[in-house]
Amino acid sequence: MNWPLDSNLLRCILAEDDAGFDQIFRDRIRALSRVHWTPLAVVRKASAFLVQTPRTRVLDLGCGPGKFCIAGALFTKGSFSGVEQRRRLCQIAWKIIKTQRLANTEIFHGPINALSFSDFDAFYLFNPFAEHLPSAVQDRIDDTIDLRWTPIVGPLLVGIKLWFGV
Ligand SMILES: C[S@@+](CC[C@H](N)C(=O)[O-])C[C@H]1O[C@@H](n2cnc3c(N)ncnc32)[C@H](O)[C@@H]1O
Repeated sequence: MNWPLDSNLLRCILAEDDAGFDQIFRDRIRALSRVHWTPLAVVRKASAFLVQTPRTRVLDLGCGPGKFCIAGALFTKGSFSGVEQRRRLCQIAWKIIKTQRLANTEIFHGPINALSFSDFDAFYLFNPFAEHLPSAVQDRIDDTIDLRWTPIVGPLLVGIKLWFGV
């Protein structure tokens, strides 16, 4: 079984208590949670939908500090991997996974396309491109990522939003 060592963490996850779960992060990362990390109620529903058998391997494309992977691996019997471009966020996830001795959860540092998608059965993503939206400037995670493509990606995303009404 993939239980964390900290029973309070498990209680928060099962109770979908985001504020409680986010205590595992330091202030700055915790403050980003409401906008950038998936709420536990959504993790529960999405992971149950994605994991069809205990052998299902789920990949979170742009996993941040690992909230979806960590909670998904506790809500289900599947294996959860995440790939994240910001090393600092990977380090946070690695530390939690190690100190809580979580199985079925692993994080890779790098761009989304560094992994072979054929190694996975199901995919999850939560707005990995949102930072390119001009309206999201004040909500950026940090300034470590080169957003030089924003003049192209931004209008493209705005166009998609307007076209599909999302
Ligand atoms: C909105 S957060 C979602 C985090 C996590 N999936 C969750 O739901 O809690 C999006 C993350 O995607 C990452 N990201 C965006 N583009 C990426 C890329 N090309 N390669 C790897 N990570 C990327 C960002 O650094 C950010 O941490």
